[in-house]
Amino acid sequence: TFVVKANTPVAEVQSTMWGVFFEDINLGADGGIYAELIKNRSFEFARPLMGWKVEQRPYTEGAVTVQNRQGNNAANPRFLRVQLNNASQTSLNLTNEGFRGMGLKKDLRYDFSVMYRTTANNLKLHVELLNAKNEVIGNSVVNLAATGSSWSKAAQSFQSKDTAQKGQCRFWFEGTGTVDLDMISLFPEDTWKKRPGGMRADMIQMLADMKPGFVRFPGGCIVEGIDLANRYQWKKTIGPIEERQLIMNRWNVEFPHRAAPDYFQTFGLGFFEYFQLCEDIGAEALPILNCGMACQFNTAELVPLDQLDPYVQDALDLIEFANGDVTSTWGKKRAEMGHPAPFNLKMMGIGNENWGPQYLERLKIFQTAIKAKYPTFKLITSSGTDPDGARYDLLNTELRKMNVEFVDEHYYRKPEWFFSNVKRYDNYTRTGSKVFAGEYASHVDRTNGDKRNTWLAGISIAAFMTGLERNAEVVQMASYAPLFAHVDGWQWAPDLIWVNNLNVYGTPDYYVQKLFSLNKGTQVLPLTFNNEAVAGQDSLYASAVLDKATNELVVKIVNASNKQQIQTISVEGAKKIAKTAKLQLMQQNDLTALNSIAAPQQVAPVESMITINGKKFDYTAAPYSFSVLRIKLQ
Ligand code: AHR
Repeated sequence: TFVVKANTPVAEVQSTMWGVFFEDINLGADGGIYAELIKNRSFEFARPLMGWKVEQRPYTEGAVTVQNRQGNNAANPRFLRVQLNNASQTSLNLTNEGFRGMGLKKDLRYDFSVMYRTTANNLKLHVELLNAKNEVIGNSVVNLAATGSSWSKAAQSFQSKDTAQKGQCRFWFEGTGTVDLDMISLFPEDTWKKRPGGMRADMIQMLADMKPGFVRFPGGCIVEGIDLANRYQWKKTIGPIEERQLIMNRWNVEFPHRAAPDYFQTFGLGFFEYFQLCEDIGAEALPILNCGMACQFNTAELVPLDQLDPYVQDALDLIEFANGDVTSTWGKKRAEMGHPAPFNLKMMGIGNENWGPQYLERLKIFQTAIKAKYPTFKLITSSGTDPDGARYDLLNTELRKMNVEFVDEHYYRKPEWFFSNVKRYDNYTRTGSKVFAGEYASHVDRTNGDKRNTWLAGISIAAFMTGLERNAEVVQMASYAPLFAHVDGWQWAPDLIWVNNLNVYGTPDYYVQKLFSLNKGTQVLPLTFNNEAVAGQDSLYASAVLDKATNELVVKIVNASNKQQIQTISVEGAKKIAKTAKLQLMQQNDLTALNSIAAPQQVAPVESMITINGKKFDYTAAPYSFSVLRIKLQ
């Protein structure tokens, strides 16, 4: 028998309880939520023509060159110079392959733009959308009027007449003369909120549907960088996109068997856009900043303490950028980007998976400076990656002594770890620093090394999350990681949401996260199984919350066994309860079941109404199931 006490809540569930962790890994940003279709639009990748194919007939020495104006434009030095001599369709083609191809949709408008300069007066640029068979499925002609020595922007929109999963974009010219080209760009019309140059709407919708309490960005290890030169620097990600300086993605060189040598961060998607996204979907922003240390799994490069000031200043300036008055230096920049109202940033992470005395020394300097200026601003600190190890305990103790608001714990572990750690937080002190379970995922071993989001992964995470929910007084934020992966370009698995160029699907883990988030309630209720917290007795796991807004009792039950289990649920402390309950059920007999592009809802919640016979009723938990019951209190 489960006993739920509906009138004695033990803790508040914070609005931030369930959130999302975003990182540009697995083509998460460039080639992912950032909807730009042209790869290497400004020729700044390590090899300047990566992503481009140049075809000349006949080949003419020096007709296509990459120029570097280093001294004049340090953020975006390179551009393409094309010399044309009575050019036509057959003489010179430039073809961009996109990020693992381009997803093109029938009847959708595509917005092309280019920065160019030329002294010639008769040039035409033809833009063609190609399908996988190299057939033209959309085209347009852009007149490149003479600009003299200054740069100008040309733009044109046109429709695709067909759909292509692996499209490309080809360019050719008419006329004679020299033309310089930069920031060659193609965006679909159907971006999130139809913002020009915006985000891929289907991917963002998946996040919006979860109603996350927060969005953590921009990572992950990319915050740290393989070395400090490649760390994430938010100031280089705001303002006009042509002035945002590209860097190599930290995930460019890892995992050689799935190397992505063409993985760069163009920062078309930067901190302004992340704040805007948070606002759009009603989530708190949680930026993470570099603490003066590069990734300790790589170089462990450190900034000397006496040179940490610029890093600390970045943190202070970020708060001003998000919240400052429009007359402040950084508030003004936000206003210039179109958002005079503050973003109301309340918290920030300092460091990601950093550890050791070097981390603590640096963190103290950040903490002192930030608290001096913004005493109520919350700091999230890192506890490394070893949830059971001595290093974690040591760091955790030191961080708690510093009275930090949150300690960020990460665990990528096997399903058994999650089942046996459901009680992890039951004995954590209720006072002092809170826990941010900032990265977690259940890794099911497979012979080929690829870890998949099977139903075993999903159900083990669901069991673990009942323990997080029960301890919402201590664990006040949690996010699965990583968030996105492209089926043709990933470094890390499992991931919450997978995409190809046209489609998106949620894994079983996605639906588990979503169910917790949409049913987070407002207060934790005591729920016991034979007078004990439910944590695996008969392979059952459960938690309960009250939703004050709807006056509903929400009970979550995981049955991780292969047999059906009938349990009595006894609701105490309620006058009456409704005769029916809403059931959202995830169930599979096969723990290896997966979702895929072809079968996106193979493992997904099914909703129904069930009958309840009074305050003590029997519930049948199906084999390998996760049930969420919403019961009106009367
Ligand atoms: O989520 C993938 C990586 O795992 C993150 O970048 C890092 O924080 C962790 O090691």
